[in-house]
Amino acid sequence: MLNGKRILLIVAGGIAAFKSLELIRRLRERGASVRCVITAAGAQFVTPLSLQALSEDRVYSDMFSLTDESEMGHIELSREADLLVVAPATANILARMAAGLADDLAATVVLATDKPVLAAPAMNVRMWTHAATVANVETLKKRGVTFVGPNDGAMACNEHGPGRMSEPEEIVAAIEGMLTAERPPFEKPPFEKPLTGKRAVVTSGPTREAIDPVRYISNHSSGKQGHAIASALARLGAEVTLVSGPVAIADPTGLRTVHVESADQMLAACLAAGTVDIAVCAAAVADWKAAHPAASKIKKKAGSEPPALELAPNPDILATLSNLGAKPGAKRPALVVGFAAETENLVANAIDKRKRKGCDWILANDVSAAAGTFGGEHNTVHLISAAGVEDWPTLAKGDVASRLADRIALHFSRPPKAEAAE
Ligand code: PMT
Repeated sequence: MLNGKRILLIVAGGIAAFKSLELIRRLRERGASVRCVITAAGAQFVTPLSLQALSEDRVYSDMFSLTDESEMGHIELSREADLLVVAPATANILARMAAGLADDLAATVVLATDKPVLAAPAMNVRMWTHAATVANVETLKKRGVTFVGPNDGAMACNEHGPGRMSEPEEIVAAIEGMLTAERPPFEKPPFEKPLTGKRAVVTSGPTREAIDPVRYISNHSSGKQGHAIASALARLGAEVTLVSGPVAIADPTGLRTVHVESADQMLAACLAAGTVDIAVCAAAVADWKAAHPAASKIKKKAGSEPPALELAPNPDILATLSNLGAKPGAKRPALVVGFAAETENLVANAIDKRKRKGCDWILANDVSAAAGTFGGEHNTVHLISAAGVEDWPTLAKGDVASRLADRIALHFSRPPKAEAAE
């Protein structure tokens, strides 16, 4: 939920601007308030009146409007929001943002803001892949702008490829990912970074195991828990590689995200991250994959039986990382943390899983439909270590992440013998 959050939505000039109307609706359904700024080009695609009707607020467009400035100065406009969202983010506005231009109200508020910025690019595929846009996006990412999309697919200009603006639900998920993680106490001054110098790898989201080029095996993991853990470790100073399966939420800032699809790719990306001190496996990895994925779409033949699906086991990433030290040249992370997703005998099964996989800690969570853990905002976990079981209260996933990151920092701040007493 986004109760009480204030979004400043900047609508630039692209055909995808019509999706911004739906975005306003979705954000307001979740309790956020939306105030809109529209560029001159944006107003060619959607009317300020539509934005005003849906946001139930004034729409700002003119930098030199005395009425606008007396009601709400452009600096105030850029700062009183919790988050700025540029959707659609056209090649033009991205270029202006990268160059630091302030040649209209939209560019000025982005330049003047001290709040996080999310951009949802939308443009022709050739414009998106043009070296100028690629460089502008890189520049903006380095400066902390978060991107959602673009998606691949057919475009209004009859071309096909990356450039379609993300769907409103995907943008909302990205906004929720950016706004719902609680700011833990250690972020308040003086900023403590107890994990500085430590390297971490975190897995998150589901894996997708291809059956043929159009079908796959997967699960309902949203990546919210894993992404929040990666962010919390990075906030404490760790150098984090997040290995993410396909999710609809935005890449966290302040760390490196590697996108993968299958369990095999996820394991390879974890190993490619090199020697790490901390591994947290929060991904919901498919236990099985199709033994023989078809190279072309399996055809449905009238009157014939459905094809049999032969499964093969996937590599166990958590067990592999936990037992890395067994291979010469490969160093086991000093602390390996897994999750146990259980629907029955939660703690007993998790205790058994910790031993079988060889990890140090395991966080048991109930993933029965009633618990709403998959995709939900909250999680109720039990931390299981050699020292025993610790029951945590139901917390927002951001708070579970902060608490876990704090525990990890504490673990590294103590001499090794203290672990047994934890
Ligand atoms: O993504 P969200 O919607 O926020 O939901 C969070 C979550 C429920 C996905 C998360 O909290 C969670 O429980 N992740 C682990 C899910 C899972 O696969 O549990 P498992 O009990 O099947 O696996 C145990 C552990 O082994 C996990 O750490 C898993 O990452 C790991 N594993 C499992 C299979 C496999 N082939 N390789 C693995 O590394």
